[in-house]
Amino acid sequence: MAATYPLIDHKYDVVVVGAGGAGLRATMGLAAGGLKTACITKVFPTRSHTVAAQGGIGASLGNMAEDKWEWHMYDTVKGSDWLGDQDAIEYMCRQAVPSVLELEHFGVPFSRTKDGKIYQRPFGGHMRNYGEAPVQRACAAADRTGHAILHTLYQQCLKHAAEFFVEYFAIDLIMDDDGACRGVIAWNLDDGSIHRFQAQTVVLATGGYGRAYFSCTSAHTCTGDGNAMAARAGLPLQDHEFIQFHPTGIYGSGCLITEGARGEGGYLTNSAGERFMERYAPTAKDLASRDVVSRSMTVEIREGRGVGAEKDHILLHLEHLGADVLLARLPGITETAKIFAGVDATREPIPVLPTVHYNMGGVPTNYHGEALRPSDDDPDALCHGLMAVGECGCASVHGANRLGTNSLLDLVVFGRAAALRCLEKLKAGASHPPLAKDAADPALARLDRLRHANGSLKTSEIRLQMQKTMQNNAAVFRNQEVLEEGCRSLDQIWGQLADIRLADRSLIWNSDLVEALELENLMVCAKASLYSAEARKESRGAHAREDLPERDDANWMKHSLAWIDDKGHITMTYRPVHTYTLTNEAKYIEPKARVY
Ligand code: FUM
Repeated sequence: MAATYPLIDHKYDVVVVGAGGAGLRATMGLAAGGLKTACITKVFPTRSHTVAAQGGIGASLGNMAEDKWEWHMYDTVKGSDWLGDQDAIEYMCRQAVPSVLELEHFGVPFSRTKDGKIYQRPFGGHMRNYGEAPVQRACAAADRTGHAILHTLYQQCLKHAAEFFVEYFAIDLIMDDDGACRGVIAWNLDDGSIHRFQAQTVVLATGGYGRAYFSCTSAHTCTGDGNAMAARAGLPLQDHEFIQFHPTGIYGSGCLITEGARGEGGYLTNSAGERFMERYAPTAKDLASRDVVSRSMTVEIREGRGVGAEKDHILLHLEHLGADVLLARLPGITETAKIFAGVDATREPIPVLPTVHYNMGGVPTNYHGEALRPSDDDPDALCHGLMAVGECGCASVHGANRLGTNSLLDLVVFGRAAALRCLEKLKAGASHPPLAKDAADPALARLDRLRHANGSLKTSEIRLQMQKTMQNNAAVFRNQEVLEEGCRSLDQIWGQLADIRLADRSLIWNSDLVEALELENLMVCAKASLYSAEARKESRGAHAREDLPERDDANWMKHSLAWIDDKGHITMTYRPVHTYTLTNEAKYIEPKARVY
């Protein structure tokens, strides 16, 4: 029985949880379309992690040279290592062009070509004519594209009078007995009050769970809150084993140096000064897809060709580009290199290392953003009243490996798609079915349990163990023994959650309680990742097994579904990849060897 908390009630047509690019694009579209919309966010909207996206948003505008959405689709399917759903990929790549033009009209200050068009740069895995040579497809606002998009979308939301609940932490979804979502319980971090939001639909847009790792490019807020809420509501987490390492995190700090740096002509070298990517990817070289570049760097380091006193990193050269180019095109990372690596990028190379960057997996959805509760009978069955967009959703357009620039694209395309779907299906102001008396109890019990947690371990101690386990046991390269050890370790760490102690239990809004809630969410995501990785007996995209180096389409071209119960036990099932396209204008792209 949960403690009794006074509940403050709200009723909306739609509640969006999260105010990054996907959450804001959904919120804007819903509010503009006349649905009463609330956006709940644990940080101020313009502090959401989208603000850190640097290099660009992918769209085949063809401003620099010929380009086509069909080529973009081909690259995305190939980048996904044939685990992406081709209907969703077709939808995203076709919508890319109008979505970016829409952003331009909303006011995003894109960089410009001499004749005033949106500037586009090359990015890893984006090629012309089905893999021939790199193409300039990344629409960029210098190296602060996410910042520009996020601020513009927030202004658009305000223009359309969306309502924001800022610094509210979503604890759990409200589910009814039929398994449909009816709303969400949130905690106001400012005054400690508890809020019950009823909605016809809840849209999860809570981002990724990079902070399950010790070193990542993600903000501290990236704690998988939406994934974990969906899992606690009885949904599976799809493809969690696919975790992207960005090739160029700054050595030591993990801060992102955009792939756009290599798009502008930067290159990697080893201790012999060799441009080693020419050996691994003769056509795309430094602009091969991220999983390929990260693996190549790791091999170089392992074979003794890393740089530095411990030969444990690689160098990224930009100095040959000249100060003018760096100032105009890459001002943000020039500053970041100075602050976090002590390096003047106009004169010397930047020390870099593959760093955790993105989660391809998440809550399974269709291309409208509607959440799925797959069964053997119906692998595409809907979970009514719930949607998931952006990094917390898995549509699945990224499959086993995402191409750079396709995340910003995913945010705006599927944020918009979710809004359109709600406008199609929901009636503004429709009455809400009454909630069961105990509908909020599971969420309140969770808050209460942690608030009074009086064990012996600090949140930070347990978190560090989880992060070290993920760093060591779910890395760029994996094998059966290391993955099994990781599963055992996470099982043991899960047990420690019962022994947590909060720093100051007299403060109901203290940050330690937030961190404890976030840790529980991270643990759900971490377990789903390691168990899914252990179960997948092949190599595909970002899941590179040294003991099983080949892709096995006959047995493993399928999505992993990790179902977790409240004791932390995982059950694995699978659902088919969509090997069909959305329209007859796109042809199914047959699997083949993936070379760059
Ligand atoms: O390298 C980057 O600028 C990151 C882009 C992305 O992850 O899409």
